[in-house]
Amino acid sequence: MSALHDIAETLVAGKRGLLAADESDSTIKKRFDSVSLESNEENRRLYRELLFSTPGIEEYVSGIILFDETIRQRTHAGIPFPEFLSQRGIIPGIKVDKGTVELTNFPNEKVTEGLDGLAARLTEYKSLGAKFAKWRAVITIGENMPTQACIDSNCYLLARYAALCQAQEVVPIVEPEVLMDGNHPIEKCREVTYTTLKTLFSELSKYKIDFSGLLLKPNMVLPGKEFGSKATPEVVAEHTVKILAEVVPDEVPGVVFLSGGQSPEEATLNLQQINAYSQMKWRLTFSYSRAIQEPVLHAWAGKKENQEEAQKVFLKRAKLASLASVGQYNPSMETAA
Ligand code: G3H
Repeated sequence: MSALHDIAETLVAGKRGLLAADESDSTIKKRFDSVSLESNEENRRLYRELLFSTPGIEEYVSGIILFDETIRQRTHAGIPFPEFLSQRGIIPGIKVDKGTVELTNFPNEKVTEGLDGLAARLTEYKSLGAKFAKWRAVITIGENMPTQACIDSNCYLLARYAALCQAQEVVPIVEPEVLMDGNHPIEKCREVTYTTLKTLFSELSKYKIDFSGLLLKPNMVLPGKEFGSKATPEVVAEHTVKILAEVVPDEVPGVVFLSGGQSPEEATLNLQQINAYSQMKWRLTFSYSRAIQEPVLHAWAGKKENQEEAQKVFLKRAKLASLASVGQYNPSMETAA
Protein backbone atom coordinates (compact mmCIF):
# COMPACT_ATOMS: atom_id res chain seq x y z
CA MET A 1 0.00 0.00 0.00
CA SER A 2 1.43 3.42 -0.91
CA ALA A 3 2.04 6.06 1.75
CA LEU A 4 -0.51 8.32 0.04
CA HIS A 5 -3.17 5.65 0.03
CA ASP A 6 -2.43 4.85 3.63
CA ILE A 7 -3.00 8.46 4.77
CA ALA A 8 -6.13 8.88 2.64
CA GLU A 9 -7.58 5.63 3.99
CA THR A 10 -6.81 6.57 7.58
CA LEU A 11 -8.57 9.92 7.14
CA VAL A 12 -11.84 8.26 6.17
CA ALA A 13 -11.59 4.98 8.10
CA GLY A 14 -14.11 3.78 10.67
CA LYS A 15 -16.67 6.37 11.65
CA ARG A 16 -14.49 9.47 11.55
CA GLY A 17 -14.48 12.59 9.39
CA LEU A 18 -12.60 15.87 9.14
CA LEU A 19 -12.84 19.28 10.70
CA ALA A 20 -12.05 22.20 8.40
CA ALA A 21 -10.46 24.80 10.69
CA ASP A 22 -8.62 26.53 7.86
CA GLU A 23 -10.52 29.80 7.65
CA SER A 24 -8.39 32.50 6.08
CA ASP A 25 -7.83 35.74 8.02
CA SER A 26 -10.71 37.46 6.24
CA THR A 27 -13.10 34.53 6.78
CA ILE A 28 -12.30 34.05 10.46
CA LYS A 29 -12.77 37.80 10.93
CA LYS A 30 -16.30 37.48 9.54
CA ARG A 31 -16.97 34.56 11.89
CA PHE A 32 -15.56 36.41 14.92
CA ASP A 33 -17.53 39.55 13.98
CA SER A 34 -20.71 37.49 14.36
CA VAL A 35 -19.94 37.12 18.08
CA SER A 36 -18.34 40.59 18.43
CA LEU A 37 -14.89 39.15 19.00
CA GLU A 38 -11.77 40.87 17.75
CA SER A 39 -9.85 38.82 15.19
CA ASN A 40 -6.28 39.11 16.43
CA GLU A 41 -3.61 36.43 16.42
CA GLU A 42 -4.05 35.46 20.07
CA ASN A 43 -7.84 35.18 19.83
CA ARG A 44 -7.46 32.99 16.76
CA ARG A 45 -4.90 30.85 18.59
CA LEU A 46 -7.13 30.56 21.66
CA TYR A 47 -10.09 29.51 19.53
CA ARG A 48 -8.13 26.89 17.62
CA GLU A 49 -6.66 25.54 20.87
CA LEU A 50 -10.18 25.24 22.29
CA LEU A 51 -11.14 23.11 19.28
CA PHE A 52 -8.00 20.98 19.14
CA SER A 53 -7.91 20.23 22.87
CA THR A 54 -11.56 19.18 23.18
CA PRO A 55 -11.58 15.94 25.17
CA GLY A 56 -12.70 12.88 23.20
CA ILE A 57 -12.71 14.53 19.80
CA GLU A 58 -10.26 12.03 18.30
CA GLU A 59 -13.02 9.41 18.39
CA TYR A 60 -14.91 11.32 15.69
CA VAL A 61 -12.32 13.47 13.94
CA SER A 62 -9.50 11.87 11.96
CA GLY A 63 -7.92 15.00 10.55
CA ILE A 64 -8.02 18.78 10.88
CA ILE A 65 -7.32 21.22 8.06
CA LEU A 66 -5.23 24.15 9.29
CA PHE A 67 -4.50 27.61 7.90
CA ASP A 68 -0.96 28.90 7.27
CA GLU A 69 -0.96 30.89 10.53
CA THR A 70 -2.38 28.02 12.60
CA ILE A 71 0.12 25.39 11.48
CA ARG A 72 2.84 27.65 12.93
CA GLN A 73 1.08 28.30 16.24
CA ARG A 74 1.47 26.44 19.53
CA THR A 75 -0.67 25.42 22.47
CA HIS A 76 -0.40 27.52 25.66
CA ALA A 77 2.08 24.88 26.86
CA GLY A 78 4.29 25.50 23.83
CA ILE A 79 3.53 22.40 21.75
CA PRO A 80 3.21 23.13 18.01
CA PHE A 81 -0.39 22.50 16.94
CA PRO A 82 0.50 19.85 14.33
CA GLU A 83 2.46 17.90 16.93
CA PHE A 84 -0.31 18.30 19.51
CA LEU A 85 -2.87 16.92 17.04
CA SER A 86 -0.64 14.02 15.97
CA GLN A 87 -0.14 13.04 19.61
CA ARG A 88 -3.94 12.81 19.88
CA GLY A 89 -4.23 10.59 16.81
CA ILE A 90 -5.53 13.41 14.60
CA ILE A 91 -3.78 13.98 11.27
CA PRO A 92 -2.83 17.61 10.55
CA GLY A 93 -3.56 19.01 7.10
CA ILE A 94 -3.13 22.39 5.45
CA LYS A 95 -5.10 24.67 3.15
CA VAL A 96 -2.70 25.59 0.37
CA ASP A 97 -4.78 27.61 -2.05
CA LYS A 98 -4.57 31.38 -1.80
CA GLY A 99 -8.23 32.13 -2.25
CA THR A 100 -10.26 33.15 -5.26
CA VAL A 101 -10.08 36.09 -7.67
CA GLU A 102 -12.33 37.19 -10.54
CA LEU A 103 -11.82 35.11 -13.69
CA THR A 104 -10.79 37.77 -16.22
CA ASN A 105 -13.35 38.18 -19.04
CA PHE A 106 -15.93 36.14 -17.11
CA PRO A 107 -17.83 38.57 -14.88
CA ASN A 108 -18.88 37.10 -11.48
CA GLU A 109 -16.93 33.88 -11.99
CA LYS A 110 -13.96 32.95 -9.83
CA VAL A 111 -10.71 31.12 -10.21
CA THR A 112 -8.48 29.96 -7.37
CA GLU A 113 -4.89 31.18 -7.01
CA GLY A 114 -1.90 29.55 -5.36
CA LEU A 115 0.08 27.37 -7.78
CA ASP A 116 3.09 29.70 -7.91
CA GLY A 117 5.67 28.52 -5.40
CA LEU A 118 3.38 25.70 -4.25
CA ALA A 119 6.06 23.00 -4.43
CA ALA A 120 8.28 24.94 -2.02
CA ARG A 121 5.37 25.72 0.30
CA LEU A 122 4.40 22.05 0.38
CA THR A 123 7.95 21.12 1.36
CA GLU A 124 7.76 23.54 4.26
CA TYR A 125 4.26 22.46 5.33
CA LYS A 126 5.41 18.86 5.25
CA SER A 127 8.32 19.71 7.53
CA LEU A 128 5.80 21.37 9.87
CA GLY A 129 3.81 18.11 10.03
CA ALA A 130 1.12 18.38 7.33
CA LYS A 131 0.19 15.02 5.81
CA PHE A 132 -2.61 16.22 3.57
CA ALA A 133 -3.68 19.43 1.85
CA LYS A 134 -6.78 21.18 0.59
CA TRP A 135 -7.51 23.38 -2.43
CA ARG A 136 -10.96 24.91 -2.89
CA ALA A 137 -12.35 25.94 -6.26
CA VAL A 138 -15.63 27.83 -6.49
CA ILE A 139 -18.27 27.39 -9.17
CA THR A 140 -21.12 29.89 -9.19
CA ILE A 141 -24.58 29.23 -10.61
CA GLY A 142 -26.33 32.24 -12.17
CA GLU A 143 -27.46 33.69 -15.46
CA ASN A 144 -25.25 32.09 -18.14
CA MET A 145 -23.07 30.68 -15.36
CA PRO A 146 -21.06 28.65 -14.87
CA THR A 147 -19.22 28.81 -18.17
CA GLN A 148 -17.27 25.77 -19.31
CA ALA A 149 -14.19 28.03 -19.31
CA CYS A 150 -14.58 28.61 -15.58
CA ILE A 151 -15.07 24.91 -14.86
CA ASP A 152 -12.13 23.97 -17.09
CA SER A 153 -9.66 26.41 -15.58
CA ASN A 154 -10.59 25.50 -12.01
CA CYS A 155 -10.35 21.77 -12.70
CA TYR A 156 -7.00 22.20 -14.45
CA LEU A 157 -5.68 24.03 -11.38
CA LEU A 158 -7.04 21.35 -9.05
CA ALA A 159 -5.22 18.71 -11.09
CA ARG A 160 -1.91 20.60 -11.09
CA TYR A 161 -2.23 21.14 -7.33
CA ALA A 162 -2.98 17.45 -6.81
CA ALA A 163 0.08 16.46 -8.85
CA LEU A 164 2.38 18.72 -6.81
CA CYS A 165 0.96 17.32 -3.56
CA GLN A 166 1.34 13.69 -4.59
CA ALA A 167 4.93 14.29 -5.74
CA GLN A 168 5.68 15.08 -2.09
CA GLU A 169 3.50 12.34 -0.63
CA VAL A 170 0.96 14.83 0.68
CA VAL A 171 -2.63 13.66 0.12
CA PRO A 172 -4.56 16.22 -1.92
CA ILE A 173 -8.16 16.93 -1.01
CA VAL A 174 -9.75 18.28 -4.17
CA GLU A 175 -12.65 20.61 -3.40
CA PRO A 176 -14.72 21.89 -6.33
CA GLU A 177 -17.53 23.68 -4.53
CA VAL A 178 -20.69 24.45 -6.49
CA LEU A 179 -22.09 27.29 -4.37
CA MET A 180 -25.57 27.23 -2.85
CA ASP A 181 -26.07 30.94 -3.64
CA GLY A 182 -28.88 31.64 -6.09
CA ASN A 183 -32.52 30.86 -6.76
CA HIS A 184 -32.00 27.81 -8.97
CA PRO A 185 -33.81 24.49 -8.54
CA ILE A 186 -31.99 21.38 -7.37
CA GLU A 187 -31.85 20.03 -10.95
CA LYS A 188 -29.59 22.94 -11.94
CA CYS A 189 -27.20 22.14 -9.09
CA ARG A 190 -27.28 18.50 -10.15
CA GLU A 191 -26.35 19.35 -13.74
CA VAL A 192 -23.55 21.75 -12.74
CA THR A 193 -22.14 19.40 -10.09
CA TYR A 194 -22.15 16.55 -12.59
CA THR A 195 -20.33 18.58 -15.26
CA THR A 196 -17.83 19.89 -12.72
CA LEU A 197 -16.97 16.48 -11.29
CA LYS A 198 -16.82 14.88 -14.72
CA THR A 199 -14.39 17.59 -15.89
CA LEU A 200 -12.41 17.30 -12.67
CA PHE A 201 -11.80 13.57 -12.94
CA SER A 202 -10.89 13.89 -16.58
CA GLU A 203 -8.26 16.56 -15.71
CA LEU A 204 -6.99 14.51 -12.75
CA SER A 205 -6.58 11.58 -15.08
CA LYS A 206 -4.81 13.71 -17.71
CA TYR A 207 -2.26 14.83 -15.10
CA LYS A 208 -1.70 11.22 -13.96
CA ILE A 209 -3.09 11.60 -10.46
CA ASP A 210 -3.15 8.46 -8.33
CA PHE A 211 -6.84 8.21 -7.44
CA SER A 212 -6.11 5.89 -4.54
CA GLY A 213 -4.16 8.70 -2.84
CA LEU A 214 -6.65 11.55 -2.91
CA LEU A 215 -9.96 12.54 -1.33
CA LEU A 216 -12.84 14.34 -3.03
CA LYS A 217 -14.55 17.17 -1.13
CA PRO A 218 -17.72 18.03 -3.02
CA ASN A 219 -20.91 19.93 -2.26
CA MET A 220 -24.10 18.02 -1.69
CA VAL A 221 -26.66 18.55 -4.46
CA LEU A 222 -29.08 21.19 -3.12
CA PRO A 223 -31.47 23.81 -4.49
CA GLY A 224 -30.23 27.41 -4.38
CA LYS A 225 -30.57 29.20 -1.03
CA GLU A 226 -33.11 31.62 -2.52
CA PHE A 227 -35.14 28.94 -4.29
CA GLY A 228 -38.70 28.82 -3.00
CA SER A 229 -38.45 25.55 -1.11
CA LYS A 230 -35.91 23.19 0.40
CA ALA A 231 -35.34 19.69 -0.89
CA THR A 232 -36.03 16.77 1.42
CA PRO A 233 -32.97 14.82 2.63
CA GLU A 234 -34.19 11.89 0.51
CA VAL A 235 -34.08 13.99 -2.67
CA VAL A 236 -30.69 15.52 -1.76
CA ALA A 237 -29.31 12.04 -1.11
CA GLU A 238 -30.68 10.57 -4.31
CA HIS A 239 -29.24 13.32 -6.55
CA THR A 240 -25.91 13.40 -4.71
CA VAL A 241 -25.32 9.66 -4.62
CA LYS A 242 -26.33 9.14 -8.25
CA ILE A 243 -23.79 11.71 -9.46
CA LEU A 244 -21.02 10.25 -7.34
CA ALA A 245 -21.78 6.77 -8.62
CA GLU A 246 -21.51 8.04 -12.19
CA VAL A 247 -18.31 10.05 -11.93
CA VAL A 248 -16.09 9.03 -9.00
CA PRO A 249 -13.56 6.28 -9.83
CA ASP A 250 -13.64 3.18 -7.63
CA GLU A 251 -10.06 3.68 -6.43
CA VAL A 252 -10.87 6.94 -4.58
CA PRO A 253 -10.82 6.01 -0.87
CA GLY A 254 -13.43 8.49 0.25
CA VAL A 255 -15.67 11.47 -0.25
CA VAL A 256 -15.68 14.14 2.45
CA PHE A 257 -18.52 16.63 2.03
CA LEU A 258 -18.34 20.34 2.71
CA SER A 259 -21.35 21.88 4.45
CA GLY A 260 -21.55 24.97 2.24
CA GLY A 261 -23.80 27.12 4.43
CA GLN A 262 -26.30 24.45 5.50
CA SER A 263 -27.24 24.55 9.17
CA PRO A 264 -25.54 21.95 11.38
CA GLU A 265 -28.79 19.96 11.59
CA GLU A 266 -29.38 20.03 7.81
CA ALA A 267 -25.81 19.05 6.97
CA THR A 268 -25.97 16.18 9.46
CA LEU A 269 -29.35 14.91 8.34
CA ASN A 270 -28.39 15.09 4.67
CA LEU A 271 -25.19 13.15 5.36
CA GLN A 272 -27.22 10.57 7.27
CA GLN A 273 -29.61 10.19 4.35
CA ILE A 274 -26.77 9.96 1.85
CA ASN A 275 -25.36 7.06 3.83
CA ALA A 276 -28.77 5.48 4.33
CA TYR A 277 -29.59 5.82 0.63
CA SER A 278 -27.25 3.14 -0.58
CA GLN A 279 -24.07 1.34 0.25
CA MET A 280 -21.41 3.04 -1.84
CA LYS A 281 -17.95 1.85 -2.78
CA TRP A 282 -16.33 4.70 -0.88
CA ARG A 283 -16.68 6.10 2.59
CA LEU A 284 -18.99 9.13 2.54
CA THR A 285 -18.15 11.34 5.48
CA PHE A 286 -17.77 14.98 6.51
CA SER A 287 -15.19 17.74 6.26
CA TYR A 288 -17.31 20.53 7.70
CA SER A 289 -16.36 23.97 8.85
CA ARG A 290 -19.53 25.99 9.47
CA ALA A 291 -21.85 23.04 10.18
CA ILE A 292 -19.61 22.06 13.08
CA GLN A 293 -18.07 25.31 14.20
CA GLU A 294 -20.93 27.81 14.09
CA PRO A 295 -22.61 26.73 17.34
CA VAL A 296 -19.21 26.22 18.99
CA LEU A 297 -18.10 29.77 18.28
CA HIS A 298 -21.42 31.12 19.51
CA ALA A 299 -21.17 29.12 22.71
CA TRP A 300 -17.62 30.40 23.32
CA ALA A 301 -17.82 34.02 22.07
CA GLY A 302 -14.25 34.58 23.28
CA LYS A 303 -15.06 34.10 26.98
CA LYS A 304 -12.90 31.85 29.13
CA GLU A 305 -15.84 30.85 31.33
CA ASN A 306 -17.63 29.47 28.22
CA GLN A 307 -14.79 27.22 27.12
CA GLU A 308 -16.08 23.99 28.64
CA GLU A 309 -19.57 24.49 27.24
CA ALA A 310 -18.17 25.31 23.80
CA GLN A 311 -16.09 22.12 23.83
CA LYS A 312 -19.21 20.13 24.75
CA VAL A 313 -20.99 21.64 21.74
CA PHE A 314 -18.04 20.74 19.49
CA LEU A 315 -17.96 17.16 20.78
CA LYS A 316 -21.71 16.83 20.22
CA ARG A 317 -21.61 18.16 16.64
CA ALA A 318 -18.63 15.98 15.75
CA LYS A 319 -20.29 12.93 17.29
CA LEU A 320 -23.55 13.50 15.40
CA ALA A 321 -21.71 14.04 12.10
CA SER A 322 -19.76 10.85 12.78
CA LEU A 323 -22.97 8.91 13.43
CA ALA A 324 -24.40 10.28 10.18
CA SER A 325 -21.30 9.08 8.33
CA VAL A 326 -22.20 5.52 9.29
CA GLY A 327 -25.96 5.95 8.86
CA GLN A 328 -26.75 5.95 12.58
CA TYR A 329 -27.91 9.53 13.15
CA ASN A 330 -31.45 10.46 14.06
CA PRO A 331 -32.67 14.05 14.51
CA SER A 332 -34.07 13.11 17.93
CA MET A 333 -30.41 12.94 19.05
CA GLU A 334 -30.22 16.72 18.69
CA THR A 335 -32.17 17.21 21.88
CA ALA A 336 -30.95 14.15 23.76
CA ALA A 337 -28.73 14.97 26.73
O1 G3H B 1 -13.49 25.35 2.07
C1 G3H B 1 -14.45 25.21 2.81
C2 G3H B 1 -14.36 24.37 3.99
O2 G3H B 1 -13.35 23.44 3.84
C3 G3H B 1 -15.69 23.74 4.28
O3 G3H B 1 -16.46 24.75 4.84
O4 G3H B 1 -18.28 23.27 5.64
O5 G3H B 1 -18.38 25.75 5.91
O6 G3H B 1 -18.61 24.71 3.65
P1 G3H B 1 -18.03 24.61 5.01
